[in-house]
Amino acid sequence: MLGIIGAMAEEVEQLKKEMEAPLVTAVAGMDFYKGKLGGKDVVVVRSGVGKVNGAVCVQILADRFGVDGIVNTGIAGSLKAEINIGDLVLATDAVQHDVDATQFAYPLGQIPQMQVFSFEADERLRKTASQCCRQVNPDIGVHEGRVLTGDQFVSSKEKKLWLTENFGGACTEMEGAAIAQAAYLNGIPFLIVRAISDKADDSAQMDYEEFERLAIVHSVNLTRALVEAF
Ligand code: ADE
Repeated sequence: MLGIIGAMAEEVEQLKKEMEAPLVTAVAGMDFYKGKLGGKDVVVVRSGVGKVNGAVCVQILADRFGVDGIVNTGIAGSLKAEINIGDLVLATDAVQHDVDATQFAYPLGQIPQMQVFSFEADERLRKTASQCCRQVNPDIGVHEGRVLTGDQFVSSKEKKLWLTENFGGACTEMEGAAIAQAAYLNGIPFLIVRAISDKADDSAQMDYEEFERLAIVHSVNLTRALVEAF
């Protein structure tokens, strides 16, 4: 059973509407909706913003619902010129850019005493998502790359440059790598899917409402197809 952690209220609303007889359980201030989507068992939940909310949400999905896969959808700032607002990024791996134990000779982003530097997304989930996306969202760009996560909204050229110089990365957001770390600790395959809402710098924003409407359509289309295909 897949756990779907959505970010946008209306995205989660839409998925709930499409579920057959969802049962709701409230834990840690989060509403978990368990039911069938496209004939498959799923749990849909909104985690709230930031690394701690993301990690707590995964642990509940693991302990209470026994999920065997996690998909996290949401929005992110692009870190590459060729990744445009409205495009989707599928994670290859995820790193927490706000982890700094360089004082103890760890590379920036490395969590001390963990075996891995970045948390790798599940290849089967990513390949399936990529195929599904081309079918259900043929008009948008789909990219694969590293997701950078921190408890920070990135909105300056300097910070954006610092991120890409230190970590590479396709996009930056606020939950993905924490969800990835919690999934890794529990041995659960995961995928992060992000719709690009901004360029993570001081550039002008597009009409956010219009962006959000489209991002929700693309994200729900992909989630529905991925659940059915997986
Ligand atoms: N989510 C969407 N855009 C973001 C940004 N620029 N930084 C962090 N999280 C984001």
